[in-house]
Amino acid sequence: MNNSLIFNPPVIAHRGASHLAPENTMAAFIKAAQLGAKWVEFDVMLAASGEAIIFHDETLSRTTNGKGMVAESTFTKLSTLDAGGWFAPQYSGERIPLLKDVLQFLKEMNMAAVVEIKPLVGEEEQTVLRTLEAVDALFKERDSSILFSSFSLPSLKYLRQRSHHCQIGLLLDEWEPGWEQKCLNLKCVSVHVNEAILTQEKANKIKEMGMKLCAYTVNDLSRASELYAIGVDALFTDVPDQLINGKIIE
Ligand code: G3P
Ligand code: MG
Repeated sequence: MNNSLIFNPPVIAHRGASHLAPENTMAAFIKAAQLGAKWVEFDVMLAASGEAIIFHDETLSRTTNGKGMVAESTFTKLSTLDAGGWFAPQYSGERIPLLKDVLQFLKEMNMAAVVEIKPLVGEEEQTVLRTLEAVDALFKERDSSILFSSFSLPSLKYLRQRSHHCQIGLLLDEWEPGWEQKCLNLKCVSVHVNEAILTQEKANKIKEMGMKLCAYTVNDLSRASELYAIGVDALFTDVPDQLINGKIIE
């Protein structure tokens, strides 16, 4: 697959500018835009009523004033929850966003997204379908501003079956046996790797395969410099402003 990914600046705002605003909310994506990020990352899962929403955890308690499982809550219920007050009082009233609304904002801002699909086990097909529906409504299949990824191999396989031309990044927390073949089979354009396991040798291998290399999650400038030096194309970070401006993180 032709690799037309461009990361400039080489920073992906992880769950938005999640150091300065509540993660995975519109406030965090707006903040990322204001800080000069061109790429954001967010997590997609399904509400019980089937809508694709932006949320990280399987449960509501850490980042909202709700309780219980996200997947057991309808969007009508989810949309009443406060997804910002846990972070800071000024963000009280921030809501769990729908994928389609965040995509609309990014399109208007001419920004790009790593769309990380986080399905429940057994819900992979439905989660991919709902995600594709929202993306396809706004972006062409070959649009280089949407890059899908997932820790769920069944989701990536299903995604590739449904979409021949979409961009896929393999997401690796460990060097799983056969990761290279998975990249080839899925026609990946990038590998997104836990920064702690990245080596020069693995970076070279990924580049030789013609893929972009992204590493997560890096909030420290000296570590960021090391990773850029071994060939990383972009870093997922909670502090996009600090990496963009080159300040040392406290
Ligand atoms: O997509 C990279 C990174 O977000 C993966 O880990 O748990 O933050 O979704 P997590
Ligand atoms: Mg993520």
